[in-house]
Amino acid sequence: MNRGLRRLVGSGKPAIVYAPLRHTLSSGGKRLRALLVLLGCNAVGGTDANALSAAVAVECLHNFTLIHDDVMDRSPVRRGRPTVHAKWNDAVAVLAGDQLMSLGYQVLLGAGRNGKNGLGVERILTVYTHAYRDVCEGQGFDLEFEGRRAVTMREYRKMIDLKTARVIAAAAEIGALAGGGKPAEVRSLRAYGRRLGLAFQIRDDELDVTGNQEEFGKKIGGDIARGKKTYLLVKAMEKARGKDAALLRKVAAGRGARLVAQARSVYERTGAIDAARREIAKLTRGAKSALRTLPASPGKAILMDIADRLADRTA
Ligand code: IPE
Ligand code: IPE
Ligand code: MG
Ligand code: MG
Ligand code: MG
Repeated sequence: MNRGLRRLVGSGKPAIVYAPLRHTLSSGGKRLRALLVLLGCNAVGGTDANALSAAVAVECLHNFTLIHDDVMDRSPVRRGRPTVHAKWNDAVAVLAGDQLMSLGYQVLLGAGRNGKNGLGVERILTVYTHAYRDVCEGQGFDLEFEGRRAVTMREYRKMIDLKTARVIAAAAEIGALAGGGKPAEVRSLRAYGRRLGLAFQIRDDELDVTGNQEEFGKKIGGDIARGKKTYLLVKAMEKARGKDAALLRKVAAGRGARLVAQARSVYERTGAIDAARREIAKLTRGAKSALRTLPASPGKAILMDIADRLADRTA
C-alpha cells in the first residue's frame, strides 16, 4: 500500500508538483479509507491483491481532498506538519491536489488493464467518480455555510454526508466490488461506510474543540475561528439562550478566533458535546448492524472493531 503510493511520486518528475505530494503521502495519516477498501474486500471473501490498487486510488482521492481542504480552510498544520499551501503556496496546493486525482484514476485504469486487479473495474470507476463529485459538492456546502449565520441540523447532515461519508462509503463499497462481493454484500458495506463516515465527521468536529493538537495533528479551534458550521455549533445554537446565544452568533459569523475557550464552555453547558457523543454511538451501532448478514471473517471483525473504537479516536 505505502509502496504503491511511493512509486507514484518517485524522482525524475517536476519537483514543484511531486515534492508536495511526497510531503503529503509520506506524512502518513491513518490510511482509514485504504484500510476500508482492503477490509471490505476481505469481508466478501476477496484477497488483498484484488484490492490493493483500488486502496491506493482511494487514498489518492482522500489526500487530494485534504490538500485542497487546507487551502479552503486556511489550515496551517495537518498530521503534525505544515500543510502544502503553508509550506509552498496556494497555486502549488491546487496543482498538487489536481495531480493526485489524476494519479488516482491512472492507478484504477492500470488495474483494469492488467486484468489481475480488474474485477469490476468499470463499476469501481463509477463509485470512485461519484465519490469525487460528492466530496466537491459537500465542500461546496461547507464553504457556503461558512458565510451563513446559521444552518439547520438537516443541512449540516447533508453537508457531512457529501463531504465525508460518501468517500468512506465508497471505500468500503469499492473493496467489496474488488473482492467480487454479491450485490447485497456490496450494499451492506456501503451502508456501513456511510454511517461510519457520518460518525467520523462528527467526531472530527468534536476533536476540533476537545482534542489535543499533538495527537490530532491539526490546529485546535480552527473550525471556531472560521465560523464553520460544525455539529457542536449547530446543536448548541439550537439550545443556547441569552449570553450564550450571543457568543455563538459571533462564532457563527466567523468572529470567534479569540473565543475558543468560551465556545467550548457553551458547547459543554448546552449539552452539545454530549449530544455529539450520543449521535456517534447511534451511528456506529447502525454501521455495525449493516454488517449483520455478512458471514464471519477477519475483515468483518476488524470493521466491527473500527466502529466500536471510533467514538474514542484521538487522531
Ligand atoms: C480528515 O480525515 C478529513 C475528514 C474527513 C475529517 P482523516 O482524519 O482520516 O485524515 P488522515 O488521513 O488520517 O490524516
Ligand atoms: C473534512 O472536513 C472534509 C474533507 C476533507 C473533504 P474538515 O475541514 O473538517 O477536515 P479537517 O478537519 O480539516 O481534516
Ligand atoms: Mg479542514
Ligand atoms: Mg473543511
Ligand atoms: Mg475538521
